[in-house]
Amino acid sequence: MLTMNDVLRARRVVAAHLPPTPSWSYPLMDEVAGRRLVVKHENAQPTGAFKVRGALNLLSGLRDDVVTYSTGNHARAIAYAAREFGRRATVVMPAAAAELKVRAVEALGAAVVLHGARMADAEEHARTLPGRLVSPGDEPELIAGVATAYLELFERHPGLDTVVVPVGSGTGAAAACLVAAAVAPQCRVIGVQSAAAPAAHDSWRGGRCVYRGNHTRIDGLATGRGFEVPQAVIRESRQLKDFVLVEDDAIDAACRVLALRAGTQAEGAGAAALAAVLQRPDLMGDAVGVVVSGANITELELAR
Ligand SMILES: Cc1ncc(COP(=O)(O)O)c(C=O)c1O
Repeated sequence: MLTMNDVLRARRVVAAHLPPTPSWSYPLMDEVAGRRLVVKHENAQPTGAFKVRGALNLLSGLRDDVVTYSTGNHARAIAYAAREFGRRATVVMPAAAAELKVRAVEALGAAVVLHGARMADAEEHARTLPGRLVSPGDEPELIAGVATAYLELFERHPGLDTVVVPVGSGTGAAAACLVAAAVAPQCRVIGVQSAAAPAAHDSWRGGRCVYRGNHTRIDGLATGRGFEVPQAVIRESRQLKDFVLVEDDAIDAACRVLALRAGTQAEGAGAAALAAVLQRPDLMGDAVGVVVSGANITELELAR
């Protein structure tokens, strides 16, 4: 199982490639939330999302070319890390993937294979291709890499009493729990997922990984199953104190708050933590870390 030693090793890897991201407060955000918020700007990464930390850490330890499946930020992160380490990356995406997302991955030098109608079809096809298959969730090195964001956050803001983390596969939440348990045990970690795709939420509540409907329009939160490795890290740390489900419309509203009150662009998954703070103030303390995990919106989302 993962330990803080893995996180400290990951920090050396990540720091060789990326500067820390900012984390600070905005008076107009505090006003709307009725408490002090510390926004962790993972939307300021070169790939537009926190996932690049995990990909750098994972690929730093591999000699092989890699194959993965994703439409979004995981794909872009693997492509970015592959370029940094001189590896070839192949990403399988469903045939209907948004053109801009395909181009973002190709522009980093990775090969995109379009296959099937759903992510499960893309996963199945990826399994047939040569190279080390990288799961978007069940990879301890991804969690250790992502955990470097939480080390930065707690070192800079040791007084946080709550940190709210958006959850898809659960690598971010597992990372937050791992680091909080070690360096900020007083800090409650709270997960948030879309009510229209509650697989991670239901897996955590029920104590075993389950499949659920996946009908959210929020890309980074759109998963239909729980992932074993992150769920195990979350369970063992005992640091996740609650898990909130929010409606997609509430996430859109939170994107607007971030744009207008913090001058920052968040994609839906990146605004989900704020949506949870606004929906469940009763679960929040006085000093709340809000992870804005990504920036990558589509034109449609921008319009909305
Ligand atoms: C911007 C963003 N936020 C949050 C998540 C959820 O992260 P995880 O899959 O590690 O739970 C993702 C996943 O792709 C994402 O892209």
